[in-house]
Amino acid sequence: MEINFSTLRSADCYKVLAGLVTPRPIAWVTTVNDAGVVNAAPFSFFNCFGSNPPILAFAPGNREPGLPKDTARNIRNSREFVVNIADEALAEQMVATSTALPYGESELETTGLSAAASTAIAVPRIEEAPVAFECREWATLEIGSNRMVVGTVHHAHIRDGLLDPETLRLNHGLFHPVGRMAAPDWYCRTGDQYEIVRPE
Ligand SMILES: Cc1cc2nc3c(=O)[nH]c(=O)nc-3n(C[C@H](O)[C@H](O)[C@H](O)COP(=O)(O)O)c2cc1C
Repeated sequence: MEINFSTLRSADCYKVLAGLVTPRPIAWVTTVNDAGVVNAAPFSFFNCFGSNPPILAFAPGNREPGLPKDTARNIRNSREFVVNIADEALAEQMVATSTALPYGESELETTGLSAAASTAIAVPRIEEAPVAFECREWATLEIGSNRMVVGTVHHAHIRDGLLDPETLRLNHGLFHPVGRMAAPDWYCRTGDQYEIVRPE
């Protein structure tokens, strides 16, 4: 099978890309609006892209032509956000925060989650999340109706025990992030991992 993307509708481009570029990590992003209300939403068009400086990027599509999702709108104003990572225990609440509430209503309140103060930025993180990266917007690329938010990472909150404090290596078996699989509603667990040692 071959597919010519130049004649494919964007909804079908989404099905093909989101079905085959898997598994994807999920950024569970918190932002604040001018009134201080905390917004939370998941984004699986997400990854980290470098360490010098440390950068993350995720891509909220526009809700309608020219109209950003609340996350992108808040970042445009405050230039700060937190990327929280959800584990298996939080997966259902993470998905529940994808509901499109009216602007200014908090998905944390409707899903029983708590906001905890960040250290370097004003945007709170999700207290229950095992990992949270405090970020400042570096740039937002607008490509058609996609917005790609690139942020530098300034501070991290990591549940005790996940990383070895000396080596900063992950303690395998304690961190259970979920991955995004094919649309509309598929996910994977990350409990079945194996090692392939690189050649010298
Ligand atoms: C697991 C998951 C991943 C998602 N990934 C994206 C994404 O990468 N880009 C996007 O625009 N929407 C994505 N969505 C949909 C948004 O979460 C949804 O539109 C949400 O209402 C946006 O919230 P906001 O308007 O508060 O920013 C995803 C939803 C789920 C459940």
